[in-house]
Amino acid sequence: MTANKTILRALAGETLPTPPIWMMRQAGRYLPEYRATRAKAGDFLSLCYNPELAAEVTLQPIRRYGFDGSILFADILLVPQALGADLWFVTGEGPRLSTITTKAEMEALKPADAIHDHLAPIYETVRILSRELPGETTLIGFAGAPWTVATYMIAGKGTPDQGPAHALKDENPEVFDALMERITLATIEYLDMQIQAGAEVVKLFDSWAGSLQGTDFDRYSTEPLRQIISALKARHPQVPIIAFPRGAGARFANLHAATGADCIAVDDAVSAEWVAENVQPHGCVQGNLKSSHMVTGGEALVQETRAIVDALSKGPHIFNLGHGITPDADPENVQLMIDTVREKRS
Ligand code: CP3
Repeated sequence: MTANKTILRALAGETLPTPPIWMMRQAGRYLPEYRATRAKAGDFLSLCYNPELAAEVTLQPIRRYGFDGSILFADILLVPQALGADLWFVTGEGPRLSTITTKAEMEALKPADAIHDHLAPIYETVRILSRELPGETTLIGFAGAPWTVATYMIAGKGTPDQGPAHALKDENPEVFDALMERITLATIEYLDMQIQAGAEVVKLFDSWAGSLQGTDFDRYSTEPLRQIISALKARHPQVPIIAFPRGAGARFANLHAATGADCIAVDDAVSAEWVAENVQPHGCVQGNLKSSHMVTGGEALVQETRAIVDALSKGPHIFNLGHGITPDADPENVQLMIDTVREKRS
């Protein structure tokens, strides 16, 4: 099973001659075939909850590019919705949710184990993908990390500085802690079901970890990640886990040990050389090309891709971007990145 899946080999700690590659948001608006399928579904959330069409958009970048990894098409905000929050997307602006800032609103949420009926279509998407993906492609499930999900549930939208979540944490720790715990437990349940449906790896996105300072980072990013990972490892010891605490900076060095993750995904704010020296000795790393190269392309893309591949060639590495690909990216630049990663070197 593992033998021909390069992502599983890298996650097991193997140093490969060519790093496996996939891309955050690889199914997305930069692809015309994605836009066509989304139009057929009607809107983004209808696409997420339509297993046939969600599987179709997941497979599109695999067919076009032959990535080594395939990430389930869904969204981190489906968990808040399954817990009872209202969720909608405003075109051009992003997600909107009903907010959780009081004890009464917190108590109105559903228990963590009551999410599965709502999320059943997602598990069906995973089952379709596990049947239809090529044998060498690794199926990656995912969820948001509690802090990142809480920032959206508290503010009701994306915020530049996560101000409302910081305010609730500092002013009403009882409600904040209860919310964090509910999300943590729901995330364990959700990822457990994705694994049972066929996900071979799971990834936790803590996109806003970087706004947590000092001991807050340990308490609200690292500790919930550790809890989720240890619960999943107890149930599925063989399933590797990738954690992406974006913006962790120097703290990336300590996070394999502190969270128990098999792989730490790094953003583009740290250099590949620094990652090779300080993070990779502790386990597999994933990242860290700037997403903007997918827009601008050219020689800079080729040079930067080669530099990352070379810097991280002495240990386990999965090539990826430092964050998601953006809608204005050129699909040809993605091909250029893949060709550069897979070119034969002397
Ligand atoms: O990576 C993949 O291809 C898998 C699918 C995936 C999506 N979102 C699809 C999506 C994954 C893994 C996510 C994760 C996600 N969602 C995160 C964490 C990663 C990160 O980007 O930091 C966050 C914070 C969200 C919440 C979210 N979803 C926001 C803030 C937005 C709007 C911003 C935007 O890019 O428009 C979304 C929408 C979303 N999720 C889109 C896609 C393809 C675009 C929706 C569309 O088609 O209109």
